[in-house]
Amino acid sequence: MDSNRVTQNRALWLSSFDKPLELVDLPIPDATVGSVVVQVLNTVIQPYAEDIHTGKLPVFNLSLPLVPHPSHIGRVHAVGPDAVRAKPGDLVFFSGSIQARDDPDVRIIQGHHGGEGDAGRKLMQGEWRDGALQQYQKVPLEAIFVLNEQRLVEELGYSPADLHELSFYVIGVGAICEAAKIQAGETIAIGPATGTFGGISSDVALARGAYVIALGRSEEKLQRLAKQLGNHDRFGYVVMTGDQAADAAAIREATPEGRGVEVFNDWASGELNGSPFLSAAIRAVRPGGRIVLSGGPAGDLQVPYTLVMHLNLQIIGKLMVTRTGVDLTLKMANSGVLKLGKRGGSTHNVYSLEQHHEAFRYAAKNSGFRVYTDIAPNAW
Ligand SMILES: NC(=O)c1ccc[n+]([C@@H]2O[C@H](COP(=O)([O-])OP(=O)(O)OC[C@H]3O[C@@H](n4cnc5c(N)ncnc54)[C@H](OP(=O)(O)O)[C@@H]3O)[C@@H](O)[C@H]2O)c1
Repeated sequence: MDSNRVTQNRALWLSSFDKPLELVDLPIPDATVGSVVVQVLNTVIQPYAEDIHTGKLPVFNLSLPLVPHPSHIGRVHAVGPDAVRAKPGDLVFFSGSIQARDDPDVRIIQGHHGGEGDAGRKLMQGEWRDGALQQYQKVPLEAIFVLNEQRLVEELGYSPADLHELSFYVIGVGAICEAAKIQAGETIAIGPATGTFGGISSDVALARGAYVIALGRSEEKLQRLAKQLGNHDRFGYVVMTGDQAADAAAIREATPEGRGVEVFNDWASGELNGSPFLSAAIRAVRPGGRIVLSGGPAGDLQVPYTLVMHLNLQIIGKLMVTRTGVDLTLKMANSGVLKLGKRGGSTHNVYSLEQHHEAFRYAAKNSGFRVYTDIAPNAW
């Protein structure tokens, strides 16, 4: 790659929540010490992307202006002088989540989430402000993962869009492997399971050898999920009715020996207040079990205090994933245990930077587990 020839960096620029994104030409960033500049090949679009850009989701704590959007799949354009492994031309996954080098308690998602409070905002407003909706993104060296291109592209036939499903799977691995520490043969209830992360986490739990009981309010959607997961013999579901005792009994009944689950993983969505299924699901957790809170609803939770104490239950919050968890996800993808793209039954509608309005609209209407909308700032 002759980096001297490239002079422009097409980008989508968000200067105000009241103005649409603007296509601009920015300079290509320099790869300074501790950084890498990546030619962005694909970034998957969340259904709520436009809500972020219009300021409807202040929870993202964004300071403008910036180039929005979190993680990507890309090709290394240039590396800082301290890089020991990554080199120009490598295919990489940028995970988006970064932490302050002088305070690991301060975390942001570059271009996407300004973290908590002023410290997060400070980290976000400097070097690590701009996100993936540009052709060349400068990111921290330690936040990229060099992919095994021979295995993933040549042998398994994955495209950059297929590979960017990794950005969902790492979060599922964070919940299922790091927080829940699921073991083969255990049973996990996951709910709501019919959204993107409910589906992803169900897939990860099955891949780790667990029995999965998906919880949802729509039988039709739960049946679709069962089909998407290949009607797996370790997969079942419960249509939740809102009757706490009946729902808890139905979950227990769906477990292999009728004795309840070792884990409940909650994915309550952002538009909810509290969790719709936690009260019932927690009553189906076996003694010593784990409850992992991974969703992002508003409001507070009510838990049955004495039950939690009597049964020695653990309630664990989990955001994102560690570097070790990303490495584990890559091993699972390389081994073929996690199947991406067509191999897993996923579809991708890929748009250019210029077509971003269509991409956001399409994603808002159609995207979900294994139905993805993407933007490709550079051709593959
Ligand atoms: N922990 C992390 O690191 C992390 C990372 C990314 C996202 N998140 C959070 O994870 C959550 C889920 O994200 P997602 O992308 O999977 O969401 P999603 O695709 O929009 O799915 C939403 C789910 O919530 C269900 N739901 C909505 N309203 C409901 C109601 N009134 N009663 C019962 N179920 C209801 C939906 O069920 P139907 O299908 O029946 O509508 C669906 O299963 C979000 O809050 C997000 O912020 C966490």
